[in-house]
Amino acid sequence: MNPSPVGIFDSGLGGLSVLREVRALLPHESLLYFADSRYAPYGEKPERFVEARTLQVCEWLVAQGCKALVIACNTATMHAVQTLRERLAVPIIGVEPGLKPAAAASRSKVVGVLATANTLKSAKFNRLLTSLGNESRFLCEAGVGLVPLIEQGDVSSDTVRQTLGTLLSPMLEAGADTLVLGCTHYPFLSETIDDLVDGRLALIDTGVAIARQLARKLAEFDLAASPDTAPSVRYLSTKDAAHLREMAAALLHVEANAETVVIEPAPATE
Ligand code: DGL
Repeated sequence: MNPSPVGIFDSGLGGLSVLREVRALLPHESLLYFADSRYAPYGEKPERFVEARTLQVCEWLVAQGCKALVIACNTATMHAVQTLRERLAVPIIGVEPGLKPAAAASRSKVVGVLATANTLKSAKFNRLLTSLGNESRFLCEAGVGLVPLIEQGDVSSDTVRQTLGTLLSPMLEAGADTLVLGCTHYPFLSETIDDLVDGRLALIDTGVAIARQLARKLAEFDLAASPDTAPSVRYLSTKDAAHLREMAAALLHVEANAETVVIEPAPATE
């Protein structure tokens, strides 16, 4: 039994959609949520920045005593998970767009995929796409502009609806019946998407699967907390603790114990 926290890392607020599922499945685990909001979005930054910054923050989280890390960011996973697994001595749980469950769920076998530009151009994503190419036709679009809006807490304005409408209409016209939310920020748009497409797209979010994978890894490495543990959940932001607190209240309905932390990018990261 191990009472140390699990680190949950994202470029910003998106990983809160994963934290929500982790808390539901593993309520006795202590968590350290890290939002690198000062440097979000990662989806359009140079790939070497994403890899180096992810490694830098994850090394810091391990130094804070995290017993395992959830990389609650598709973009960071695509570009850095291999390096993290080579360099860090704790279990690393990554995320990837749910193409497989989407192909299994789709009846029309036409699946829309919404992810960041960096995720869509990564080698790891393209290998996944190729491996499932016979199972469905995947229509991939970069959700450019969505992450900065969600970071401000905007999940339903006219701008959000217009951006989504432009991205999703061609998918619907091509016969898509399923949509992969391939960025952890996007589950916060679920209600708006449902409303916009009138429920015609089944939404695939991998938050629950990630929480289950974390539970399996904690059990495998004998790292789970005792069910008697009173867990602590801390929320850290590189931008603004007050904003993170507000967003956690708005998006998750929790009163977050939030702190601002400063981690300057290493010179090689810039
Ligand atoms: N939430 C992230 C993801 O899952 C990244 C968003 C961003 O910073 O662009 O891809």
